[in-house]
Amino acid sequence: MSILVLGGAGYIGSHTVDQLVNQGFDVAVVDSLITGHRAAVNTQARFYEGDIRDKDFMRTVFDQEEVEGVIHFAAFSIVPESMKSPLKYFDNNTYGMTALLEVMTEFDVKKIVFSSTAATYGEPKSIPIKENDPQIPTNPYGESKLMMETMMRWADKAYGIKFVALRYFNVAGAKADGSIGEDHHPETHLLPIVLQVAAGDRAELSIFGDDYETPDGTNVRDYVHVLDLADAHILAFKYLAAGNGSNAST
Ligand SMILES: NC(=O)c1ccc[n+]([C@@H]2O[C@H](COP(=O)([O-])OP(=O)(O)OC[C@H]3O[C@@H](n4cnc5c(N)ncnc54)[C@H](O)[C@@H]3O)[C@@H](O)[C@H]2O)c1
Repeated sequence: MSILVLGGAGYIGSHTVDQLVNQGFDVAVVDSLITGHRAAVNTQARFYEGDIRDKDFMRTVFDQEEVEGVIHFAAFSIVPESMKSPLKYFDNNTYGMTALLEVMTEFDVKKIVFSSTAATYGEPKSIPIKENDPQIPTNPYGESKLMMETMMRWADKAYGIKFVALRYFNVAGAKADGSIGEDHHPETHLLPIVLQVAAGDRAELSIFGDDYETPDGTNVRDYVHVLDLADAHILAFKYLAAGNGSNAST
């Protein structure tokens, strides 16, 4: 049986596919390549190019694969863009989840690990944020992902689809041999931008905000390494495969 990774040609997805293959899992990938890279997908994974909102396409994939469960990264995730074009986010992210859950239900697939985001919490009332803190997103990106979580919660009640939602913060790093890494166009994430400036590929780095409660007034971010995050998705999958119920982790 295979694990179907949606968005497996993207940054976090490609590292997760690579780790899954290295751990001996049978892996299939769906990606529209709208922001991902075909070359980033481990050659031992079967690749299907298409959009998760296209239910007929997804049915052909589920027909060909005996899918044990899904790991879902396929989404748009640029916060400022979501403020300008919210419907683009509700269409790709939120409607994408509707289509996916429908096809999963048709094919009796009952496990999904979901790439959620800390943006579902909005402005934290206390640090560290805890899983059961209120989720009050302050942008359409976070809202679209919270809606996806809500849909999975009801799909669990109605159809028994078990999910783990991983609500992570900023991700950084690359596979140690440098064969895959982070490659967004445009790049909006801080660490690749820092490295682009250092390499002379970008003129300057802008630091936003100078009145945070920190020693120099600039903000402080938490980062998780992409390989640790890939492992977290695989552990979440194993948790569901062991028969456990739905859960979320911050
Ligand atoms: N990178 C971060 O710091 C971060 C932090 C928190 C959460 N996330 C979440 O992690 C996930 C992956 O992020 P990333 O940085 O790897 O992004 P990415 O853009 O590199 O990867 C997303 C992948 O999904 C594909 N995709 C998008 N919409 C699709 C669709 N409708 N059908 C098929 N494929 C589609 C893209 O082509 C791309 O390969 C996103 O869902 C994002 O919300 C990322």
